[in-house]
Amino acid sequence: MSKPIADKLDPAAPRPAPLPFSVAFDARDEDELLGLWRDILRSNRWSDGDHTRAFEAAWSAQTGLEAVAFNNWAGGALAALDFVGVTGEVVLSPSNTFLATPRSAQKSGASVVFYDCNREDLCGSFDDFVEKAERHRPKAAWIVHVGGHIAFDIEKIAAYCREKGIWLIEDCAHAHGASWNGRAAGSFGDAGIYSFYPTKTISTGEGGMLVTANPDLGRHARSYRDYGRGSGYRIEGMNYRIDEFTAAMGVVQTRRLADFVGWKQAYAHDVLDPAYPNRVRLPDGMESGFYKYIVFDPIEGGAGKVYELPCHRIMKDPAELPNTDWVAENHWCVPIHYPRAVS
Ligand SMILES: Cc1ncc(COP(=O)(O)O)c(C=O)c1O
Repeated sequence: MSKPIADKLDPAAPRPAPLPFSVAFDARDEDELLGLWRDILRSNRWSDGDHTRAFEAAWSAQTGLEAVAFNNWAGGALAALDFVGVTGEVVLSPSNTFLATPRSAQKSGASVVFYDCNREDLCGSFDDFVEKAERHRPKAAWIVHVGGHIAFDIEKIAAYCREKGIWLIEDCAHAHGASWNGRAAGSFGDAGIYSFYPTKTISTGEGGMLVTANPDLGRHARSYRDYGRGSGYRIEGMNYRIDEFTAAMGVVQTRRLADFVGWKQAYAHDVLDPAYPNRVRLPDGMESGFYKYIVFDPIEGGAGKVYELPCHRIMKDPAELPNTDWVAENHWCVPIHYPRAVS
């Protein structure tokens, strides 16, 4: 049983007032965006046009990888899993993630085997990954960059997957602007999928982006999002196309990403770090996009938890994942939202 919050708080510790939630958007971009939307409105191209191409080019420049836009994260995830061919196979997934991660594998016809996380970074544990991989022989695995930093064990897990022929897909839903020694999230495994849902570090309302260095996977994803067009309908995709209005917003938002992340990094460093010593500590060379600011002490007026309930509990899977259960019980989030400038 956890102690009541009031018993654990140090009343002497200076704590900044919690920031109110706001969707990351900079009012300086409003006129440009409205202009782009008017142009699209008056054009005869509301889908699959220049703005989609421009959003993909912007995200490609951001990550150094081929980028394929989707109308949400799920489309990109299903496209990657379809390319790998996971039906009837085992896919490893962390449990400390949003249900979207294991469910995408389940919906692709795979059996999900959960692996544990580390307490330090809340992300997948190499030791348990290897344990589960040796036992269950997965064809593919998810790794999730929880909270906006890169999973601390990513290099070891990626090297192991390369050696064993396991496809590694990175859930980058939180990892906009994150890198480790200059490498962006999505560049360690075979593909990465970003989400642009409104709570994310940047948003387009709804939207997703698959990134990959594998041109075959990129081609497959383009066809998959469009009912298999371009493959003679051999690829059994559905409609996950992004519309031009959303893509235009993606272009504007991607240009602003460095400001969002720079502001969050400065706020974390200057304001939050001195007040919250018991927190996730980033290793050398790691840049977090600070989707969340995660601490291991309860806080009042906080932004709750990244996840309250691990996926293996939600899915009633009997896996024993002690670190995942520990993390669910012992982490909290301090609000870190880019304040909307008023024009
Ligand atoms: C880790 C993780 N993966 C996937 C998703 C799903 O993204 P979307 O809402 O764009 O489908 C989310 C949340 O939105 C998430 O937090």
